[in-house]
Amino acid sequence: MDELQKKIDSLDKDRIPVHVAMIMDGNGRWAKQQGFKRSDGHTEGISTVHRVTKLSSDLGVRYLTLYAFSTENWNRPTDEVATLMYLIGWAIERELPELLANNVRIHLIGDIDRVPEEPRNRLFYARDTTAHCTGLQLNICLSYSSRWEITEAARRIARLAAEGKIDPEAITENVFSDNLATAGIPDPDLLIRTGGEERVSNYLLWQIAYSELYFTPVLWPDFSDEQYVDAILDFQNRERRFGKTSEQVQNNE
Ligand code: FPP
Repeated sequence: MDELQKKIDSLDKDRIPVHVAMIMDGNGRWAKQQGFKRSDGHTEGISTVHRVTKLSSDLGVRYLTLYAFSTENWNRPTDEVATLMYLIGWAIERELPELLANNVRIHLIGDIDRVPEEPRNRLFYARDTTAHCTGLQLNICLSYSSRWEITEAARRIARLAAEGKIDPEAITENVFSDNLATAGIPDPDLLIRTGGEERVSNYLLWQIAYSELYFTPVLWPDFSDEQYVDAILDFQNRERRFGKTSEQVQNNE
C-alpha cells in the first residue's frame, strides 16, 4: 500500500473537516527557484488546484474555498494580472468535464464584475453548468478581500435599515453572516496557508473566527496530496473548544 493511502486510511472518517479554506501562496517563489517566469508558477499552481479539489471530493470535504485572486492583487504588474486572469478562465474551462464527472459545484465569491469579460464568461459558464451538482462545492474567491466583503455587507444592511426594512436592534451576528458573500456556507473548520507566511491576508476574517489555522512552508505548486492529508490529520488532533473549557468539551456540554 502506498504512503498516501496509508495516511488516508489513518484519518478519522467521521471527523473530516466540512469546510477547508486555502491560501495558495508561493507560486512566484517556486518559479524563481526553478529559473522560470512567475506565470509558470501560476500554471504549475493550477495542477495543485486540480489535485486538492479531487482529494477534497474523494475525502468527503463538503466545501473547499480557494483564494485565487485578492482585491490587492489588482496592484500587481499588468501583465501578471492579465496572465492570471487568462489562466484562471482557461483552467476552469479545461477542468469543467472532470468537475461535472465528480459532481463538483462551482461557486464564485468576490467582485467578479472587475474580472475581464472573457475569463468572467468562462467562470459564469462553469458556475451555471455545475449549478445542479450536489458533491463538493468549490468556492473560488476572485477579486475578493474580507474588508471589501464586510463593507459591502454593512452597506447592504444600512440600506435596509434606512428603508425601514430592518430594525437596527434586530441586526444579529446571523443577519450579518447572511449578508456576506459566503451566506449559507458554514464557516471554515480548517484554513491552510502554503508558502511559509503566517498571516491571513484579508481572507475570510469574519468566517475564520474559530477555524483551525495550519501554516506550511511548502510552496503551493509543491503542496502534495500527502501534505494535505497531514494538515487534516493535524486538524483531527486538535481540540476545538469554541471558548469553552476542555472539560466542557469532553463532557459534550
Ligand atoms: C500566490 O502566489 C498565488 C496567487 C496570487 C494566485 C493563485 C492562483 C492560482 C494557483 C490559480 C487558481 C486557479 C483556479 C482555477 C482557482 P504568489 O504569486 O504570491 O507567490 P510568491 O509569494 O511566491 O510570489
